[in-house]
Amino acid sequence: MNAVAARQVSKTFPGGQKALARVDLVIPEGAIHGLLGPNGAGKTTLIATLVGLTVPDEGTVEVCGLDVQRNLHRVQGMINMVRGFSGVLEKVTARELLIYYAHLYNAPLSRVDEVLHTTGLWERRDREVAHFSSGWRQRFFIAKGLINRPRVLFLDEPTVGLDVDAALAVRDMIRAINADGCTILLTTHYMREAEDLCANISLIAEGRIVAEGSPEALKTLVRTPERMDPTLEEVFLTLTRKPLEVDDED
Ligand SMILES: Nc1ncnc2c1ncn2[C@@H]1O[C@H](COP(=O)(O)OP(=O)(O)OP(=O)(O)O)[C@@H](O)[C@H]1O
Ligand SMILES: [Mg+2]
Repeated sequence: MNAVAARQVSKTFPGGQKALARVDLVIPEGAIHGLLGPNGAGKTTLIATLVGLTVPDEGTVEVCGLDVQRNLHRVQGMINMVRGFSGVLEKVTARELLIYYAHLYNAPLSRVDEVLHTTGLWERRDREVAHFSSGWRQRFFIAKGLINRPRVLFLDEPTVGLDVDAALAVRDMIRAINADGCTILLTTHYMREAEDLCANISLIAEGRIVAEGSPEALKTLVRTPERMDPTLEEVFLTLTRKPLEVDDED
């Protein structure tokens, strides 16, 4: 079964900003799939439609084999989402907050201690998350994302702003979560991260999927005799940059 199947999804925001145009995205169960694109390309909007926070104007979105909008509660119980740059409540410890989220999902309290261990937060469990450094805070958000044992986890820039060590720790966690059977959709602006983690990548630009495939397959798309071994960064720039406007009047 596919973990995610979005077909011909379009979304225009009130005010006329077209964020998604006939997007197809299929992710098989068990994959780590990358979604890469420039700022404003539509990545977060696409994730919002996949988790049921945004209703697309057109198209269908299935997650875990269910239409998301028609089965919102069931789907949201089976998935979770982690975003970079999230805010947190003051004066609440990591464990207290996770207990709160466990209640929301009807997860057993034993799950709280499990995710504290998985994310390396056990020693910090009784400290206030608001005072964590950004790397530890991001581990907390991953712990929160795991509380309901999601079958699909949507990670929207999970390592943004982290130092090298913290980013490596989060990437190791992503691999471990995936090895446990969780399908992952990852957005990131770090090409190295995408290449290290993702078997397949979709490139999105101005609301459209412009290319899709393994990092190696994507590189063959931009290979030239002068540049036989392009980097993923070069692939990204070549395929997502706007073509130069041609002035027809000359
Ligand atoms: N609530 C909203 N109302 C109006 N326009 C929006 C809204 N949310 C997003 N947009 C617009 O939709 C487009 C896609 O935005 P989105 O946040 O999905 O991009 P992104 O690929 O996640 O970018 P980034 O890499 O900066 O996170 C942008 O032009 C953005 O300004
Ligand atoms: Mg975004």
